[in-house]
Amino acid sequence: MTRLFARLLAISLLCVLPLAHAEPKPLPPIIGYDSRFQPIPSREGMVVSSDIIASRVGAQILAEGGNAVDAAVATGFALAVTYPQAGNIGGGGFMLLHLAEGNRDIAIDYRETAPEAARRDMFLDASGNVIEGKSQLTHLASGVPGTVAGLLHAQKAYGRLSRAQVMAPAIALAENGFPMGFAMSELLAGPWGKRLLGNAAAKAYLFKPDGSPYAPGEVLRQKDLAWTLKQIAGHGEDGFYRGPVADRLVEEMKRGGGLITHADLRGYRAIERAPVRGRFHGFDIVSMPPPSSGGVHLVQMLNVLDGLPLAGMGHNSAAYIHTLAETMKRAYADRSKHLGDPDFFDVPVEGLTSAAYARQIRASIDPAHATPSEKIAPASEFPRESTQTTHFDVMDRDGNVVSNTYTLNYSFGNGVAVPGAGFFLNNEMDDFALKAGVPNAFGLIGDTANAVESKKRPLSSMTPTLVLKDGQPWLATGAPGGSRIITVVLQIILNSTVFGMNIADATAQPRVHHQWLPDELHLEPGISADSVRLLKEMGQHPVEGELLLGNSQSIMFRDGYMLGASDTRRPGGGVATVEELRWPKAAQSR
Ligand code: DON
Repeated sequence: MTRLFARLLAISLLCVLPLAHAEPKPLPPIIGYDSRFQPIPSREGMVVSSDIIASRVGAQILAEGGNAVDAAVATGFALAVTYPQAGNIGGGGFMLLHLAEGNRDIAIDYRETAPEAARRDMFLDASGNVIEGKSQLTHLASGVPGTVAGLLHAQKAYGRLSRAQVMAPAIALAENGFPMGFAMSELLAGPWGKRLLGNAAAKAYLFKPDGSPYAPGEVLRQKDLAWTLKQIAGHGEDGFYRGPVADRLVEEMKRGGGLITHADLRGYRAIERAPVRGRFHGFDIVSMPPPSSGGVHLVQMLNVLDGLPLAGMGHNSAAYIHTLAETMKRAYADRSKHLGDPDFFDVPVEGLTSAAYARQIRASIDPAHATPSEKIAPASEFPRESTQTTHFDVMDRDGNVVSNTYTLNYSFGNGVAVPGAGFFLNNEMDDFALKAGVPNAFGLIGDTANAVESKKRPLSSMTPTLVLKDGQPWLATGAPGGSRIITVVLQIILNSTVFGMNIADATAQPRVHHQWLPDELHLEPGISADSVRLLKEMGQHPVEGELLLGNSQSIMFRDGYMLGASDTRRPGGGVATVEELRWPKAAQSR
């Protein structure tokens, strides 16, 4: 009894002593004691991604002297190996950079393009109806992949290390293998995995020879993918867009009736664009411009919300959720008409993100009653005034930041793997509006702005975002989730700015989503029954617990610390820090 008491006393003293003897430099209040959810800190550099092995690859590159761009490129190629459901070289995405030198923000658009032979009616039957599955599960579903061009452009223009050095870890992971995690093993054993068994190359890459999935802990080796990655490491863009990898891709297109040709591959270019910018609660918002709809609608919604007393409503109260839902509906209505590839369609970015338009939207919101979606239409003019994507962030000790979201669209894209080349092809063509008013896989509708056209980029919701405070990076964030991405990013920003939550807390909070059509307000578990009742009384149509909204990855910078939070909505993700790699194994539990 006495011994037990003595042990308890010793343990409680251990807990109290650090408080009794103040550290020479106290920890900033953001670390510990303020919330049930705590981020992971670093001072030396950090990578947050949906796969911890890939995060560690990025942290290792930082430890070797690479900057945030080197680490992001290394992480991007590593995810193509360890997280093949979304990490990719056969898809596309967006990278947002903040470069400390010159205090510059750059958006790199490496979204897929429609093949040259693509036509507006290519997914319609003779009577003009959408043919189910054609834009999702066939070779025609693939756009010309942009990931290799995007990552290599970033590396060449803004990285410090050599291409070979940043690609070496991904090549090693593909060649030597890595232990299958619980989540991926389960994914492959489930319907998404079973779907792949119909494609011989996909089966050969991710399953045992008898077609059974690897168990957690068993090693997956991807020799063909290692070969392709070596072609890229050795020859740069030409290693993918020309030569034997391109030959194998085009061969597969011919075999399966796809459209991508050698000329399409040779002609692909990543494009640098000016980010979309906004102001909210004294912070600068920097986000992805079209062909993403994310940045435009994020800024549009923040403009509307900036004029409203959100903090006073209380976080996730009925009044607050109602306000978010009404704002979201109006933004998604505009998305359906005004957003598309800016190289093909004049997107009214200025009008949509103007303060005057935000005032007009704000005035149309009734704080007590929902406006039915059918009564909301996209703006006709603007007032004058001046199942799988993945996101990761990197911050280095010099203040360079990368926020990157890339995708194959569905998990494993269209399920078509390129024989002899080890990678999956995207089904991004489904992000076009196949026919005006007909919803895509995410229930989104569109019109002329996002109609299929030769060489055009399909509209995206991917929203890699940076928030700056006094011109310095304060938050990097983003998420997968199709149409839900924009509202997830919105709520991460509101939670951390309006409600002052640390980034782990901001990530953990239950989320809500409305996309105008269908007229449904999706609520994650954790919204109180009282709020749901009040929302129904206001005329909202809550749908509870049907889907989790996003899998965000974020880094906040506060008080000299990088603070990372990898969403716990999906297993397997993680924060890797430079310190952790340097510490002895025993200290790695932090
Ligand atoms: O670009 C887009 O908006 C979609 N292709 C993203 C798909 C997605 O996030 C699926 N992941 N859960």
